[in-house]
Amino acid sequence: MGLLEGRTTLVTGGGSGIGRAVVDAFVHEGARAVVLDVVAERISDLEQAHGDQVAGVVGDATTWSANQSAVALALERYGRLDCLVCCVGIWDYFASIQTLEPDQLDAAFQEIMDVNVKSYMLATKAAWDALVESNGSVIYTLSNSSFYPNGGGPLYIASKWATRGLVIEMAFELAPRVRVNGVAPGGTLTNLRGLRSLGQEGLRLRETPGIEDLMRQGNPLQLVLNPEDHAGAYLYLASPELSRGVTGTVINSDGGLGVRGIARLAGLLT
Ligand SMILES: NC(=O)c1ccc[n+]([C@@H]2O[C@H](COP(=O)([O-])OP(=O)(O)OC[C@H]3O[C@@H](n4cnc5c(N)ncnc54)[C@H](O)[C@@H]3O)[C@@H](O)[C@H]2O)c1
Repeated sequence: MGLLEGRTTLVTGGGSGIGRAVVDAFVHEGARAVVLDVVAERISDLEQAHGDQVAGVVGDATTWSANQSAVALALERYGRLDCLVCCVGIWDYFASIQTLEPDQLDAAFQEIMDVNVKSYMLATKAAWDALVESNGSVIYTLSNSSFYPNGGGPLYIASKWATRGLVIEMAFELAPRVRVNGVAPGGTLTNLRGLRSLGQEGLRLRETPGIEDLMRQGNPLQLVLNPEDHAGAYLYLASPELSRGVTGTVINSDGGLGVRGIARLAGLLT
């Protein structure tokens, strides 16, 4: 029997990258999943791959109506909601507040906070009653940028620290019924896109020149991380059998950024 047999999860941003790896892993462990994503082809791919186990909603996670529809679909199709996983996100490609025009900064702030923070709040609000009823759990996708500088520019870093704050506050507000935790991936080869307001919508993280070397050289384990590398952390947090006493915590899945040396990056490197 799978770890999540009989359970239902909503994954926002589950059409690509880390969210897609979470959907695949959860379904493999017996869960049913509703996926909210703004890219229609990604939803069709998922439905094709997983048949009745996955139901998709094409919509914008920064809107209340899309989140409401996704939760409604979970209850209607599968009769319950046990877990909310938020994986929606965009990156700022190191945009600098020093060089952005003030009106660009205004628009970029709005866009990144809407996608990276507000969408997580809306999803939590929409799922609230169903999760309280099921004694469920919430897992937010944070980042190395929720802890350390230079994983993006100040817009991205601020948005990811905000999500880290949300883990703590929501873990408090939803106790004792619902556990709330985060997973903080390090740099991972995905389609993570840039900000529309800065003309970066065509950029994809995994296509950045030299990205694999940059990733490998940046963490003590010298890893180039793939989305699947993080799925186990989400599985652990989603399973009440494995983690029923765990709330308000973050699992850092980043190749050991917190144990970087000062003189040398890692002990075994000369
Ligand atoms: N890739 C990395 O290096 C990395 C590192 C740390 C944290 N993260 C975080 O992981 C999360 C997942 O990103 P990823 O790297 O897998 O990127 P990705 O682009 O491959 O996946 C994100 C998914 O979210 C969807 N999405 C974006 N905006 C949306 C919206 N408004 N409404 C609905 N769906 C929307 C996209 O269509 C996409 O399918 C993000 O929160 C990101 O900040 C990524």
